[in-house]
Amino acid sequence: DAADKGGWSSFMAKEVSEEPEAVANTLRGRIRDGAVAIPELEGLDDLFRDISRVIVVACGTAAYAGMVAKYAVEQWARVPVDVELAHEFRYRDPVIGPDTLVVSISQSGETMDTLMAVKYARERGAKTLSICNTQGATIPRESDAIVYTHAGPEVAVASTKAFVAQITALYLLALHIGQVRGAIAPDEVAAQIEEFEAVPGKIRRILETEQERIEQFAYWMADTRSVLFLGRHVGYPIALEGALKLKELAYIHAEGFAAGELKHGPIALIEPGQPVFVLVPSPRHSALLHAKVVSNIEEIRARGARVIAVAEEGDAAVLPKADEVLRIPLAGPLFEPLLSVVPLHIFAMGLSTAKGLDVDQPRNLAKSVTVE
Ligand code: G6P
Repeated sequence: DAADKGGWSSFMAKEVSEEPEAVANTLRGRIRDGAVAIPELEGLDDLFRDISRVIVVACGTAAYAGMVAKYAVEQWARVPVDVELAHEFRYRDPVIGPDTLVVSISQSGETMDTLMAVKYARERGAKTLSICNTQGATIPRESDAIVYTHAGPEVAVASTKAFVAQITALYLLALHIGQVRGAIAPDEVAAQIEEFEAVPGKIRRILETEQERIEQFAYWMADTRSVLFLGRHVGYPIALEGALKLKELAYIHAEGFAAGELKHGPIALIEPGQPVFVLVPSPRHSALLHAKVVSNIEEIRARGARVIAVAEEGDAAVLPKADEVLRIPLAGPLFEPLLSVVPLHIFAMGLSTAKGLDVDQPRNLAKSVTVE
């Protein structure tokens, strides 16, 4: 058992350390001459040309990967995307047909809710594509096309390295569809690929420079009973993922919100001492979004919140405003989630460990839920 963990204290610690490779291995063999070339999708150009919409179906962490990907597919492929929890999708007579591509995301490829959504979509004439981490699993076998994530086997119940691999595969798919439909210029694809190839090294840098500090910080917060997460744009699904991991691993009440919703409700929750993680978008990409999130920080801090900002290196504006700043390297606008999720995974794992809990096998949860 200890040998399987490769010297790490838990499978999750090992799997978080493998997040850089999960991205690199999922990219490998799918880029050629500055363009995206996914061998598994060869011969399917007509399928991608004929669709008029994409519906992503998934559960849990995989659904958050889908929410992140919505931004990329819409921006690069100019196809509208809806993201649906698989178990909600098939019980409400959705409007789908041959022009719909239903993309399922599942680490295990065996989640019953997701499988049933895929079967349902097929019966209704939709095209189906599976993003899956497990070769030969049931969901890919039921789909018209497959893009495997190459995160390697994930043992810890809560998903970590598979999440970054899912975003990677979905972004590749977005660029692929964009190329086929002529929605994205070749130099734009090349620029995104360059960003992509730098991601593994940047994740590694977070693990090397921030992990210990975040674990120490999680240790001090071991008595915390509630944590909120705020994010905007692609930071929003990452806020949801940060909250889910904390619930799963540390049994702490946690909620993620879109930062723009703050004034529409969640701000009522803020009382002195309330810890709030805030995912701060880079000011280089959008001064407007950055300013809006910084103003959210000011609003909650004025009400006594304890603000932990996840912000890009060099973002000087957040320093005086936050109680704690967790740094991520600079990255292209859509690539920030692949970095900002890493401190949140480390934090949830650290807090669980600080509470003496089993990070690999949280109570009541199963790695793969094969019943509806
Ligand atoms: C379970 C796991 C989660 C996972 C979800 C979806 O609930 O505990 O970590 O995100 O299933 O699993 P899948 O294998 O379909 O990605």
